[in-house]
Amino acid sequence: MSEIRKAAVIGAGVMGAGIAAHIANAGVEVLLLDIVPEGASNRSAIAEKAVERLLKAEPAAFMSKRAAKLVKTGNVEDDLDALADCDWIVEAVVERLDVKQALYKKIDTVRKPGTAVSSNTSTIPLAALIDGLSEGFGRDFLITHFFNPPRYMRLLEIVSGPATDPATVKRVSTFADVKLGKTVVNCKDTPGFIANRLGTQWMQLAVGEAFALGLTVEEADSVMGRPFGIPKTGVFGLMDLVGIDLMPHVLNSLQRALPKDDPFHKGTRDLPLIGEMIESGLTGRKGKGGFYRLNRDGGGKVK
Ligand code: NAI
Repeated sequence: MSEIRKAAVIGAGVMGAGIAAHIANAGVEVLLLDIVPEGASNRSAIAEKAVERLLKAEPAAFMSKRAAKLVKTGNVEDDLDALADCDWIVEAVVERLDVKQALYKKIDTVRKPGTAVSSNTSTIPLAALIDGLSEGFGRDFLITHFFNPPRYMRLLEIVSGPATDPATVKRVSTFADVKLGKTVVNCKDTPGFIANRLGTQWMQLAVGEAFALGLTVEEADSVMGRPFGIPKTGVFGLMDLVGIDLMPHVLNSLQRALPKDDPFHKGTRDLPLIGEMIESGLTGRKGKGGFYRLNRDGGGKVK
């Protein structure tokens, strides 16, 4: 099996919907499935609403109207058989091992042998995800860790395990590079992979130092942006883009996963501003605003 002509994304939340849109924008047909909402008359309402949101997203739609025609929506109860036509299945459901594994068991009964299956997990080790699954499933399984929003974040971390077929990794990596325009980085199966492990420490440090020095976010980003190799956004703009809630989520999960003597076993520093922002819904572009809107409304200082 060589090319990826049709993909499926399971889980039509923030990441799954964004990944499906990015695949469709690249001109590839994609099936987007989610659960059946309780008591709903429309059994595929979650995936359908996700497509509507993608077309309306601000400041720019995540998907063109033309690309939206390539997205077929459905649900995991009625449409699972359609996975048999797909060459790559991306799982982007909630971050729970039991939910992901129950889904993999179902996928394994319908997928064609050789169909790549990947998880978008940010924190669950690959070894745990495939534990108890069939040998064939393990050969075709990898982690493809996209960043939010998938349309604009170029990095894609790929994690393979000792059982993963190198041909599967190559097929998905080539598609991600050539069709999706991603910069693919192969990572070891370690907590936080590379970007979250290093990036969140660095974001936390930036907030703390800007606070200590009384800088505006613009002043901090004018140094931390282009001169540090981060195009346009700078570090505060980047946090607005990926979601401010991601930082404590990742730092705390690294703290849980790593031994006490590991330098990354730090958790969140005492930065009440981040907690207050999340509580008020100021989680960045996906929420009511972030550092930049807070900065405009609040008079200029990181406070
Ligand atoms: P989300 O909560 O926005 O969406 C999850 C979706 O999965 C929901 O629509 C839910 O109804 C659906 N779902 C739950 N169980 C299901 C099942 N059995 N079958 C089909 N659909 C099911 O979550 P989000 O943020 O999109 O995260 C998804 C995955 O991506 C998680 O593993 C997360 O750790 C990872 N991730 C999240 C990032 C983020 O910035 N939000 C960044 C990178 C990775």
